[in-house]
Amino acid sequence: MNKHFCISFISFAMITLVSCSSSDKIIDDFESGSFSKWTVEGDAFGTMPNDKPEPGQQEIIGYEGKSFADSFHGGDDSRGTLTSSPFTIERDFINFLIGGGISSDVYMSLEVEGQNVFISRPIVESEALHQLSWDVKNYKGKKAVIKIVDNQRGEWGHILVDQIVMSNTDKSNIMVNYKQSYKIDKKYLLIPIEDKGPVTKVHLQQDGKNISPLLEIRIAQTKTDYWVPINVEPYKGQQITLLFDLVKKTDIGFSLINQSDTFDFDYNEKYRPDYHFSPYYGWTNDPNGMVYHNGEYHLYFQHNPYGSMWGNMHWGHAVTKDFIKWEHLPFALEPDSLGTMFSGSAVIDKNNTAGFGKDAMIAIYTSAGKIQSQCIAYSLDNGRTFTKYENNPVLTDANYADFRDPKVFWHNASNQWIMSLATTQTITFYSSKNLKEWTRLSEFGDGIGDHGGVWECPDLIPLTYQGKTKWVLFVSINPGGPNGGSATQYFIGSFDGKKFIPDDLPYPLWIDYGCDNYAGVTWENTPDKRHIFIGWMSNWSYTNQVPTLNFRNAMTVPRDIKLADNGKHLIVANYPVKEIDKLRTDSVSINNFEVKTKYTTDKLLDNNNGAYEIEMTIRNTSTRNFGFKLYNRKGESLNFVFDTEKGQFIVDRSKSGLVDFSNNFASHSINAPLVPKETYKIRLLIDKASSEIFINNGELVQTNTMFPTEPYNSIDFNVDGGTINIENFRVYRLKQ
Ligand code: FRU
Repeated sequence: MNKHFCISFISFAMITLVSCSSSDKIIDDFESGSFSKWTVEGDAFGTMPNDKPEPGQQEIIGYEGKSFADSFHGGDDSRGTLTSSPFTIERDFINFLIGGGISSDVYMSLEVEGQNVFISRPIVESEALHQLSWDVKNYKGKKAVIKIVDNQRGEWGHILVDQIVMSNTDKSNIMVNYKQSYKIDKKYLLIPIEDKGPVTKVHLQQDGKNISPLLEIRIAQTKTDYWVPINVEPYKGQQITLLFDLVKKTDIGFSLINQSDTFDFDYNEKYRPDYHFSPYYGWTNDPNGMVYHNGEYHLYFQHNPYGSMWGNMHWGHAVTKDFIKWEHLPFALEPDSLGTMFSGSAVIDKNNTAGFGKDAMIAIYTSAGKIQSQCIAYSLDNGRTFTKYENNPVLTDANYADFRDPKVFWHNASNQWIMSLATTQTITFYSSKNLKEWTRLSEFGDGIGDHGGVWECPDLIPLTYQGKTKWVLFVSINPGGPNGGSATQYFIGSFDGKKFIPDDLPYPLWIDYGCDNYAGVTWENTPDKRHIFIGWMSNWSYTNQVPTLNFRNAMTVPRDIKLADNGKHLIVANYPVKEIDKLRTDSVSINNFEVKTKYTTDKLLDNNNGAYEIEMTIRNTSTRNFGFKLYNRKGESLNFVFDTEKGQFIVDRSKSGLVDFSNNFASHSINAPLVPKETYKIRLLIDKASSEIFINNGELVQTNTMFPTEPYNSIDFNVDGGTINIENFRVYRLKQ
C-alpha cells in the first residue's frame, strides 16, 4: 500500500493507518529493469540492473526476484557509482542485500543531510548477497541519499546490491565471529552440511588460539544434506570453541552439531561405485603421491574432508594390496601457513638422500597459498603420518602464478632426482640430489601439443618399445580437452637427464578421449617396474554439480600403460590391470551372432546392480556405420557409435539419465579418432555411474560418467546397411 493511499484513508480506520505505517517501503528492488531512480557514473554498473552474472563472473546467489545491481561490467577493473535520488527516511530500518568484494573501496553508504552516517561493505568476499540493515530511527523524516560505490580495481573489485527497503523490522540475519564452545568427551564433532549453502570460514580454537587450519564449511541453513566429522579426539576432556566468521541467525546447522565416537552413515548412495576407488565421504579430485611400499599401493588424493565440493585441499589417503579392495585411512596432509595441499607425488628414499631415514616415504607437493610453492614431508610409518620439512618450501618462483603438481622420480642414468612441474602452459624439469635443493634443467611445451588451457599434473616415465627405451610425458590440460574441459595429453620422445625431446607425432595425442579421465599419473616404485596409471574420473567443467550425495567423484580403474602401434603411428595404450579380472563373478555369454540392421538382448544380467563388464569382438567386413547402446527400462541409454567412414568413435550420453545438472555435461557427443579396422576387440567396464571402454587392448579409450536412474540392463546393436558379426560376447557381474 503506498503512502498516498494510506493518507486518504486515515480518518476511516485506525487499523489501516497502523498496518500502513508498519509496511515496508521499497527504495529500489531493481525489478523495474532500469536505473531510473539512480544517477549512474562510470562503467562498472552498466546501464541497467543485471539478471545474470557478467561474462567471467561466478554464479550469483542470494538476490531476490530477477534483478540486482552488479558492478562487474567490464570485470573487476571497472569503476563506478550509483547515487540514489534523495528520499525521506520514513521507517526505523533500511534493509538491503549486499555481496561482492570486501576492500575499503567497495561499499554502500547512507548520506543524511550531506553527512555520511553509514558505510557498509560485503561481509565476506563472495558472489552471495547477504542481508544487512541500518538502524535509521534517529534520522526519521530527514532527507537521505544512498551511494553504491565501486572504486576498486583488480581482485574482487565489484559490488552486488539488491532489495533496498525501508522497514520497521530489522531484517539483518547475520552474526559475525559467532562462537560455539564444547567440552569434548567424544572423538568427533559432527557437522551438518548443505551443499547449496554459502561457505563459512571456521576455526577450531582453544583459549583464543587457532588449533586447526582455516576450514571452509557449508553449514546447513535449511536442511542437512549429509554430515562431516571434525576429529577432536586430541582434546578429550578439554574445552574447545568453533569460531564461525559469519553465519545466519536462522541457519539450522549450529544447534545440530553434536559429538560422537563414531562416524558412519547410511545414505542412499545410488551412484557410489562398487569397484572403483571413491573417498569414504567428501570430495576428491586428482590422485596424488602414488607409490608402492612394503606390499601396499598408496593412493593419496586431493580431498575435501569437510564437504563434497572442491575446497580445503588435504591429501586423503587409501591403500590397496590388490587393486580390488581399498582401505580408507585418515587424511595425510592438511593445510598449513603456506597454503592448502595441492597435487604432488611420493617417492621411497632408498639411499636416504634427504636424510630423513633410509626408505623414508617422501611426499613432494604444492602448497597453494598467496603463491604456489613446492614442499616436502616425510613418513617413517608406511605413509600413515607425515612430518613436514621445517625449511619448506623447497622450490618457489614468483614469476609463475600456476606453478604446481611436482612429480618426482629417481633417474638412474644421471644419478639424481628429477621433478616435472607444471609451469602455466609448459612443463619445467628440475633436478636434485637430496629433494631439498632443486636446479632448473629445461622447459618443454612451447608451440607443441594442445594449449587450450592451463597445463597441470605432469608425469615423465620410461617405457620399452621393441627393445628400446622411450620416454612418455603426460600433461593434463584444463580446459582444452578434445571434447571440452579437462583431458590428459601425452608426448613420446627421449630424455637424457636434462631435456625432453619429443618424437615427431601428430600431437595433441590423448590418453583417453572420453570426458572423464583427468590428472592421471603413474605409481612410483612398483614391483616388476610396472607402469600403472590411475586418473580422476571427472571433468572440471561440471564436476561440482554431479548428482551424488555425501561423496563426490571416483578414480578410473588402475591401468597398465604401454606403447603400441595403432596402425598409423606409435601411441600410449592403457588397459585395466590384470588384477581387475578377479572382480569377475558369474557371467552370461551369447553364441556368436550376426547383426543385420538390429539385434537386441533384453536382459544382460539377473538383478543387475549396475557393476558389470562386457567383452566382445566386433567383426566388420561390410558396413561403414555400426554401434550399440546400453539402456534401461526407462529408455535412458548410453550410445556407442563406430563411424568408419568419418574415422570416428562416438559416445553419446545425451539421454543417459540425469544430464541437466550442468549445461556442459551432455550438450554434445564425445568423439575420438578411429582407425578403420576389420575387428574391434571391446572391453567395457560399467560401475553405476561410469563407463570405460577399451578398444583393441587400450589403443583407443573413452571414459565417461553417466547418471542413469536405474542400471542399464539391455543392449541393442545396430548397423547402417551391411552386417557386423559379434563374437565371444560375454557379460560378467563384477564384485569386490
Ligand atoms: C588439477 C588441479 C591441480 C591442482 C589441484 C588442486 O585438477 O587443478 O593442478 O594441484 O587440481 O586441487
